[in-house]
Formats: sequence, C-alpha cells, structure tokens
Amino acid sequence: MLARDWYYTQRRRLGLDSAVASIYDRHDDSDERARAALTMLGVQRGWRVADIGCGNGVLACEAALMGAEVDAIDISPAMLALANIYARDRKAVIRTQPAGLLSFAYEPNSYDLIVSEFTLHHLPDFWKAVALARIFAALKPGANFYLRDIVFVSMPDGIERDIDQWAEFTIKNHDFQREGVVAHMRDEYSTFGWVIERMLTDIGFTLESVDYHAPLHGTYLLRKPKPGQQS
Ligand SMILES: C[S@@+](CC[C@H](N)C(=O)[O-])C[C@H]1O[C@@H](n2cnc3c(N)ncnc32)[C@H](O)[C@@H]1O
Repeated sequence: MLARDWYYTQRRRLGLDSAVASIYDRHDDSDERARAALTMLGVQRGWRVADIGCGNGVLACEAALMGAEVDAIDISPAMLALANIYARDRKAVIRTQPAGLLSFAYEPNSYDLIVSEFTLHHLPDFWKAVALARIFAALKPGANFYLRDIVFVSMPDGIERDIDQWAEFTIKNHDFQREGVVAHMRDEYSTFGWVIERMLTDIGFTLESVDYHAPLHGTYLLRKPKPGQQS
C-alpha cells in the first residue's frame, strides 16, 4: 500500500528538520507537564504506549520512566537523534521509529495509549483522517488516544482575529518569532476544531473530553470503544 504513487509524501518538509530540532533542543518544564498528562491518562507499568510526532522525546521518556514500553515515532531523523540523546541522559529505554502518522508500523489492537501532540497539523485534512483511522486501528479496544494540536476554534469568518490573537500569544509566551507564525499559516494544515471532532467521531472514537484553550490550542481525550459499546 505505501508504494502507491498517490500516497501523501510526509517527508516533503524534512529539509527543515534540523532547524526545527534546534528550536526544540532546549530546557523547560516540558518533562513535568508530560508527567502530569501521563498520570492523568493512567499510564501503568507494562503498558504499550506510542508517541507519534514525538519530537525531542520528552513525553516518550517520561512514559518509559513510568514503566511503559514506548515507541517514539517521528518522521524526522534529526528529532529522533535528539530523542535518543535525551533518553540516554534520562536513562530511559525507548524504541525510536523513523516513520510518520501515515506509515508507522503497528499491530492492530496493540497499544494501551497513543499520544500525538502538535503533529497532526502537518497533514492536509484528507490525510489527517487517514492517519486518525490508523491510530484507531492500532489501539486496543477501550484504550485512549490523547491528541493535542493547533486548531481554529472560530468559524471560517473569524480566522483573522484568531490568527492575530495566536500570533500575539505565541510570540509573547513561547519565544516564537512572527516568521514561525506566518510559516505555520502558509505551509502547514491547521484546521477547524469542528472538522477534527467530526473526523474523530466518524472514525469511531468516543470523545471523552475536548478542551479549546489559549488561542488555537485543542486538547482531545478519546477512547476506542470496546465491542458492543457505543462510540
Ligand atoms: C511541533 S513538533 C511537536 C513535537 C512534540 N510532540 C512536542 O509536542 O513537543 C512536530 C513534530 O512532528 C514531526 N512530524 C511532522 N510531520 C510528521 C508526520 N507526518 N508524522 C509524524 N511526525 C511528523 C516533526 O518532525 C516534529 O518532531
């Protein structure tokens, strides 16, 4: 299937990856935030966990330190190199996989938890749905998917205000330059929250909670229903 010539080329922006890696190679409180999220998600020793678009591997390593067996998946070799260095420093055992949302290898019904943070927007909407269906297939029935991304909360006629607020917020709070905001809007594929919600529920996920917060941040907690349970 992956050899089909119409399949989306996830590596099209890979030329930027070492620049992106340098942005993420810095110290902050992301380990504490990852630990809090994983605790909220109930991670247990022996769980099989995947972080897709794992970036510098902070969340993957925290899950491993909590006793999970972790697949740290990212399309960018530069990011996985950082993840491996971080894992070595933290003495965490993770299994890195250089693959994307559309190509990661999985056994059906095998993961206890999948996390993907700020990565889905790299795919156009059609391919987002394909990726979400793969994640659904990879999860055990009853298991959770924790999705976070940059999404628009407004209706299409409100995007200018959304983008202005988001630019102001990220430049002030996240050390981003205006060019980063412009490049995101111009070259990446953030979409509306209602589009993401519809994709998720049509695929079969149960939406356990949705939180739209800060300008343009969406956090979704989803469950793959067990057979006989309603989605
Ligand atoms: C904005 S970073 C987020 C990294 C990390 N999850 C975090 O929240 O800090 C996006 C990551 O997604 C990766 N990525 C881009 N396209 C991808 C794809 N199609 N599949 C998997 N990872 C992808 C990038 O290499 C990068 O590491």
